[in-house]
Amino acid sequence: MAGSWGLDGEAAFITGVGGMGRAGALAFAEEGIPVAVTDVNLSIAETTAALVAEKGGKALPMQLDVRDSAQVQEVMAKATAELGPLDYLFNTAGIGHYGPLVEMSNEDWSRMVEVCLTGTFYTCRTLLPAMIARGRGAIVNISSMFGQTGQANMVHYSAAKAGVMGLTKALAREMAEHGIRVNSIAPGPIDTPLWRRGLEGKDLDNLIEERRQPVPMKRVGHISEIADAMMYLMSPTSSYVTGQILHVGGGEVTVT
Ligand SMILES: NC(=O)c1ccc[n+]([C@@H]2O[C@H](COP(=O)([O-])OP(=O)(O)OC[C@H]3O[C@@H](n4cnc5c(N)ncnc54)[C@H](O)[C@@H]3O)[C@@H](O)[C@H]2O)c1
Repeated sequence: MAGSWGLDGEAAFITGVGGMGRAGALAFAEEGIPVAVTDVNLSIAETTAALVAEKGGKALPMQLDVRDSAQVQEVMAKATAELGPLDYLFNTAGIGHYGPLVEMSNEDWSRMVEVCLTGTFYTCRTLLPAMIARGRGAIVNISSMFGQTGQANMVHYSAAKAGVMGLTKALAREMAEHGIRVNSIAPGPIDTPLWRRGLEGKDLDNLIEERRQPVPMKRVGHISEIADAMMYLMSPTSSYVTGQILHVGGGEVTVT
């Protein structure tokens, strides 16, 4: 049963399905698109697959660490064999880590860059030959408003997310002639498990209050608002849109 976005592709692949990725999987299910739901934590992938099944959708849960290029190849091959051509790629896998630069270890830096940026490179590189062969495809990479504004105590994260923005723009230009569109969503504060972990040990209500203040809309966002933006960028509704960074953050970033 086709959903309201008019997606006409075969199957989707998502990395990181705890928060935004989970909302994305449910949105694909509503469109009748089978979806591979992958996460470094298999139980998160299985929970997401169960939620998709509850909606009457088809999801294939798989364990995947996006830092491992061989595993990316293996898991994408399995997903293609079971679900059909992967016409949609939604990269959301990410981690949180906070601290001043002078206290940041080599490992802190590498881990952040590998999960948030290199993982996106691996999934794109692995899937693109099949997309090019089909002459179609849409990729949405989650970056962050901090990739543009920068954020104190998150230098590695800000750098990795700026990298995702650059990767997205360059790849969009490279893939345009193949009928493949590549865009990025730069979220502002969105209420997800990762976002809440960043507030751990603090007074949650006060922090939510504090964090919503610089947002012109005076609230944090919901994962369904990311899923809607993702669906727009995946769907034929955005057929002339590529290489763009879509800020979904209540107006906190307005100059791009
Ligand atoms: N929540 C926010 O406010 C916010 C704002 C801007 C950007 N983001 C970005 O949005 C994306 C999604 O984050 P979320 O808020 O939904 O967080 P989340 O923690 O709820 O989901 C991220 C998922 O990625 C998985 N993951 C972590 N390392 C992985 C790896 N090596 N391989 C595969 N999966 C891995 C985690 O297990 C988790 O389920 C992240 O890239 C994050 O940086 C979040």
